[in-house]
Amino acid sequence: MKLANKMSRLGTETAFQVLAKAQALEAKGKDIVHLEIGEPDFTTPQNIRTAAATALDEGYTHYCNSQGMLPLREQIAKELGRTRGVTVDPTRVVVTPGAKPIMFYAILALLERGDEAIYPNPLYPIYESMINFTGAKAVPIRLREELGFRFDLDELKSKITSRTRLIVLNSPHNPTGGMLEEADIRAIADLARKNDITVFSDEVYENIVYEGKHFSIASLPGMLDRTILLSGFSKTYAMTGWRLGYAAMPKELVEPVVRLISNSVSCTAPFTQVAGIEALTGPQDSIPKMVAEFKKRRDLIVDGLNSIPGIRCFRPRGAFYVFPNIQKLGVSCNEFADALLNEAGVAALPGTHFGKYGEGYTRLSYANSQENIKKALERIARAVAKYLK
Ligand SMILES: Cc1ncc(COP(=O)(O)O)c(C=O)c1O
Repeated sequence: MKLANKMSRLGTETAFQVLAKAQALEAKGKDIVHLEIGEPDFTTPQNIRTAAATALDEGYTHYCNSQGMLPLREQIAKELGRTRGVTVDPTRVVVTPGAKPIMFYAILALLERGDEAIYPNPLYPIYESMINFTGAKAVPIRLREELGFRFDLDELKSKITSRTRLIVLNSPHNPTGGMLEEADIRAIADLARKNDITVFSDEVYENIVYEGKHFSIASLPGMLDRTILLSGFSKTYAMTGWRLGYAAMPKELVEPVVRLISNSVSCTAPFTQVAGIEALTGPQDSIPKMVAEFKKRRDLIVDGLNSIPGIRCFRPRGAFYVFPNIQKLGVSCNEFADALLNEAGVAALPGTHFGKYGEGYTRLSYANSQENIKKALERIARAVAKYLK
């Protein structure tokens, strides 16, 4: 069968392939520590689960508004207002099954051949995939370990042309855990205003911050009107499998994005939306508890990795990933990830899974118990020793 040419431009997220390989090894009896998947290992809080069960019993089991149920959009608008100090109208909020579809819809609605989009590299791979899919030019900007995995602002300036339509930001960042400084964000906002560029600000890790504070570009004057502000429930409330996310977006984008929803999934499951209302309005104590535990794990894994000769690991300020530098081992990140999985029993992702500038790095998710992280560290130390002989 001949596929459409454009399919050759669509990438994917290989984390799920690594998971499948790891599970195949487990089925053969091998013990694997899973550090490949980016999802909190905590249970969705009880009040949220109960709200969903009640909603099912109450009949929230039918199609609903493609844009998202108004009571949920109102709560999201309130939450964005409270956390960003801006007034968000619920008509500009769009709810989707997970935050991820917003990347698909908004990029599809915005970009086409002839346009350019600048995005940090490495980054969650769906951005590069979707930019390429539209036929627009994907313009990577290198994240620099020596800058805490931020990019150089002069480099950003040098990449802006009259064709630049979009700049993608993600802070706290997947895969490095790096965060942009408020000064960076202010400078990027100035560039966006001056050059009439839309910003896609992926803030799904906004609540998983260990030092400093999350700062949103949408809080800056005029920026709400040129920002697709993406967030969701997966990470903050340990709800990855529920598929519930949202964005606030410029007015002009709402109708086309809702049309894409209507052409694809129709709507987001209403009982999960009712659970989302409970998540935002119910007790919030699960968040600081989860973040405190993640912080302990971060220190455990960063200190552990830095004590292994040949590995250097930046201490991230947010999200739940580390991105250790393995360049001294003289091996490609793909080979290293394969060796970790097949020989050491640790599932990790090669840095290039997140873009070409990820070569020389591995991504480890520390969304796993301290006991398993210790086990993984011992195994990694043994695996690394062979490269240094
Ligand atoms: C940066 C980033 N954005 C978005 C998502 C997708 O989140 P969701 O589960 O809400 O689709 C992820 C998931 O790992 C992510 O890392």
